[in-house]
Amino acid sequence: MHAKRGFEVIGTGHYVPGRPVTNDDLSRVMDTSDEWIFKRSGIKQRHYASEGVGASDLAVEASRRAIEAARIRRDEIDYVVFATMTPDHIFPGSGALLAHKLGLGGVPALDIRQQCAAMLFGLQLVDGLIQSGAATTILFVGAEAHAGFMPWNDWAALDPANGREASPEEKAQANKHRALAVLFGDGAGALVFRATDRDAGLRAMNLHTDGGAAKLLYVEGGGFRTRPYWKKDDFGEQKYIPTMDGRELFKFAVTKLPESLRALAARTGTPLDQIDWFLAHQANARINDYVRSQLGVPGHKLPSNIDRFGNTSAATLPILIDEQSRAGRLKHGDLCMLLALGAGVHWGCALVRW
Ligand code: ACO
Repeated sequence: MHAKRGFEVIGTGHYVPGRPVTNDDLSRVMDTSDEWIFKRSGIKQRHYASEGVGASDLAVEASRRAIEAARIRRDEIDYVVFATMTPDHIFPGSGALLAHKLGLGGVPALDIRQQCAAMLFGLQLVDGLIQSGAATTILFVGAEAHAGFMPWNDWAALDPANGREASPEEKAQANKHRALAVLFGDGAGALVFRATDRDAGLRAMNLHTDGGAAKLLYVEGGGFRTRPYWKKDDFGEQKYIPTMDGRELFKFAVTKLPESLRALAARTGTPLDQIDWFLAHQANARINDYVRSQLGVPGHKLPSNIDRFGNTSAATLPILIDEQSRAGRLKHGDLCMLLALGAGVHWGCALVRW
């Protein structure tokens, strides 16, 4: 019998592309408003990757910052885990591209597809890789380039400096997807995990998947159940844009997340008031406010950055963790509850001694 090997986060980094795009900017390409978006979601602005920039490119910048913060040589990294729902290509995964761009030739790179719940599955993987001795220093990256599924074509119209708005016909097309489009933004977050003898790492998890609810948020177009896997009509019918049942997802989240946290707290005998930080995926500020009030968690223990980035899917929790770490709030020794729900549907929580 050997003692459980712990892990710790030794470096963090994040990167968001381009200028912030405000809610008012979005009203130049769709019929929407700052008031509607902010009231419904808590979002004020987001960033978009430009044409030709993929999730792996955003990930390179975030990884460089995390590796620098970790003060390690790149060749100390012995495993890469890459989480995205907006990969550069259908295959191979963006992990291989990232490892190559970082000069980590030969190091195994694994892609995971858990959408907004990626950080939870990532923690479980990191724990398993370290327990088994398969890896010691793991680069975990979440990165998304959602811009490719936004429902407008006239990107220049977004920028007030260009002095024009999208045409009424183009706005009418984009309006069909406006509830989805206003929520998502692009970015990348990277964490360097390392095995440690310190009393730190994953304590327990409560993790679930319900594929019966997959159609609450999914992309209908493309995919290898059809021949060929891209249909000409998919573009005209806007099937490359995700279909989202926002109301049902909202209900799913505010029911399942408190249930999951209560179950984990009970199983581990951890009173919620002993937890220092609740690090939550940022899909909608109202979801997190609701979960927090259900569980009696004070606002200052559940940090929020959705106002500045929107929902960056797999990148969200790594970005939030980077911000909290660099601000000196999240420290070694803190007891953290991470919680998330994403398309799949995947959801749950993880108790981690930082
Ligand atoms: N601007 C202005 N009006 C809008 C917009 C917009 N951007 N979007 C929708 N509306 C209108 C609708 O047309 C509708 O008008 P109507 O009443 O005249 O028909 C009205 O606003 C209400 O629309 P709903 O879609 O019912 O709005 P709702 O209150 O449900 O809020 C929202 C929508 C914000 C999407 C909410 O349902 C939500 O946040 N759901 C959760 C989504 C989520 O978490 N997604 C990410 C999952 S995680 C992952 O893995 C990626």
